Amino acid sequence: MRQYTKLNLFLFRLPIDIFVPATLLLFLGIAPVSAASQNNSSNRPWMRRSLTPEQRADLLLLAMTLDEKVTMVHGVDPRPIEGYVGYVPGNNRLGIPALRLADGRAGVGNGAKDVTLLPAPIAATASWDSNLLHSFGEVLGNEEWRKGTNVSLAPSSDVVRVPEWGRTFESYGEDPYFNSQMAIAEIQGIQSQGPIANANMYLTMNQENNRFKEDSIVDRRTLQEIYLPPFEAAIEEGQVGTVMCAYVKTNGSYSCENPYLLATLLRKQLDFQGWVMSDWDATHSTVASANAGLDQEMPGAKYYGAPLNAAIANGQVSTATLDEHVRRILATMFRFGLFDKPQTGTWDSYVRTPEHAAFSLKVAEQGTVLLKNAERLLPLAESESIAVIGAAGEENPKASGGGSSGMIAPYVITPVDGIRKRLAGRAQVAYADGSDRAKAAEVAKAAKVAIVFVNTDDSEGRDRPNLELPNHQDELVEAVAAANPNTIVVLNTGGPVLMPWIDKIGGLIEAWYPGQEDGNAIAAILYGDVNPSGKLPLTFPRTADEIPTNTAAQWPGVNGSSTYSEKLDVGYRWYDAHQVRPLFPFGFGLSYATFKLSDLRITPVAIRGVGANQNVQVDLQVKNTGKRDGAEVIQVYVEQPEKNGEPPRQLRAFTKVNLQAGQSQSVRLNLSPRSFSIYDPDLHGWKTPRGKYKILVGTSSRDLPLQRDVDVAGN
Ligand code: BGC
Repeated sequence: MRQYTKLNLFLFRLPIDIFVPATLLLFLGIAPVSAASQNNSSNRPWMRRSLTPEQRADLLLLAMTLDEKVTMVHGVDPRPIEGYVGYVPGNNRLGIPALRLADGRAGVGNGAKDVTLLPAPIAATASWDSNLLHSFGEVLGNEEWRKGTNVSLAPSSDVVRVPEWGRTFESYGEDPYFNSQMAIAEIQGIQSQGPIANANMYLTMNQENNRFKEDSIVDRRTLQEIYLPPFEAAIEEGQVGTVMCAYVKTNGSYSCENPYLLATLLRKQLDFQGWVMSDWDATHSTVASANAGLDQEMPGAKYYGAPLNAAIANGQVSTATLDEHVRRILATMFRFGLFDKPQTGTWDSYVRTPEHAAFSLKVAEQGTVLLKNAERLLPLAESESIAVIGAAGEENPKASGGGSSGMIAPYVITPVDGIRKRLAGRAQVAYADGSDRAKAAEVAKAAKVAIVFVNTDDSEGRDRPNLELPNHQDELVEAVAAANPNTIVVLNTGGPVLMPWIDKIGGLIEAWYPGQEDGNAIAAILYGDVNPSGKLPLTFPRTADEIPTNTAAQWPGVNGSSTYSEKLDVGYRWYDAHQVRPLFPFGFGLSYATFKLSDLRITPVAIRGVGANQNVQVDLQVKNTGKRDGAEVIQVYVEQPEKNGEPPRQLRAFTKVNLQAGQSQSVRLNLSPRSFSIYDPDLHGWKTPRGKYKILVGTSSRDLPLQRDVDVAGN
């Protein structure tokens, strides 16, 4: 006969008994316990580390009252503790640790002190170096953990659809494959240090204008091929523990109560085992959200506190559904060791280090993109007198973006400071803030080289009104360029800007929001201590009209809806499909060295089993033909065999190669079966069309000198 063990369980605040087969507990290696004597860990069977996270969560669930469960599925607002941006209290009776959530995209946010200000994520990804992103995640995760954070609200991996998007600087760029690789790297980095990472913002969070109500109208193929992949990668390869549903709606339903996004895509298609939390105040309902799959409301209990108790009492939300939400949260906490590993740091802890400062500098250097270098104006000679123009050069350095990723920088090295330190008195450095054009021109004229710092003030909560530089900065550049032929412009922008003066300047550098080491990084690039190797992770358009989202219906939307009528033609895909020449293409960036690619070999050339896990190897030779050591990014694009609605070509692999002057190296990249696949909404899945695919290899989306065909049998 079966032996049953009695466990006390509180339901609707009434203690009830449930019976668990004793054999199950014995099988799990646990002595039966009674809830009455749960005061040390031996009486807490869920603390057995030999059990799986799911087993531990199930055992803990059995011991929880209804109220204790409801406590887990929402934050407490206002928070009873200092710091952080989200807080779920711990449970002393059962030994459940508190959840402390903090923002952090360029370092620990929410007003934290004594932390490292890293460059903006867009700067880090402009390195095109996923190893660097892994380290970026490690530094961020390490400081979060030592601040007491156990859930770090990073990274943002939404594909940039609208170039004016106010959160472009927090993102990775405009390509789904590229963003996927960066998301995997950063998540693994963060989670290696203790905190659970958070893939945000799920899904179609592509604009700030009207962001609390905007409805993204987007077809399923586009969702699957463009917007979902970074989240898919975050879950499948990154093993991210949490996902944040977004403010906006997708096809009529808010992200945090959208059954297609939460149940069909996240849970069913992607088999996501972690938990979904809402963006801050992005929950709009109790019953619809709970039943669609939102596990946790943030930051407070508007819908998941008393209203959830009521919905459970009247049967609109089942106890099984509540259990499922709690189980996901607990199982994830167990999986990431939150019950097992000590965390002693607090919000007051001093967590920045000299190593992290050096890393911040490295990211800024690696992410800086050299866009123009007429007549080899750069690198500069130490003997040349310099005029630094623009407030971002000295009084008001533009080192970071605004909004929830805003931070308290421990210091910011200004460009003037960095350049002066680098020159150590060997040449004059003059400065003008640029507010007076005549004065700026005069200062520029007196120097051998003029460097103008221009910027956009990007922030969460607002899109840029257009792509022009604000505050008459175009006029400043024109005035300086007219006064000095050796004018270099440094952009501190979160994304693309229009540059009507491009033909009048000698040098152009995109330095993004470079973090606390701003001035040291730009000095290292200007004087060639570091050879620039960054590449654009998004397209810079030539004119305001020549962008993929150039109608009001697309952005900012009409009657609250933004129609994704460009479909798959996002970013460079659109420029290629419409044969529009951008100002600077996706993947573009110059070096002080030169590189030559040759000897492309594809193996195999005829592919039978794509779709059945067969990778295609891409081999080539890369040579540094210049006089300086440097790095080049090899990019592989794939062109579909026929006009089947796909963009002309899409990035499917990339790698960064460091080469000494004159050095040659063989490089191998792999194309996964997905590289040849398209999503078929009728099949609800991916298929590989039969035919001749073109593999294009080069150093930007518009410079692909090596090309070969591959025959694919398809499926
Ligand atoms: C942002 C999130 C952020 C949250 C908490 C929201 O406004 O969209 O990215 O994590 O606030 O600060």
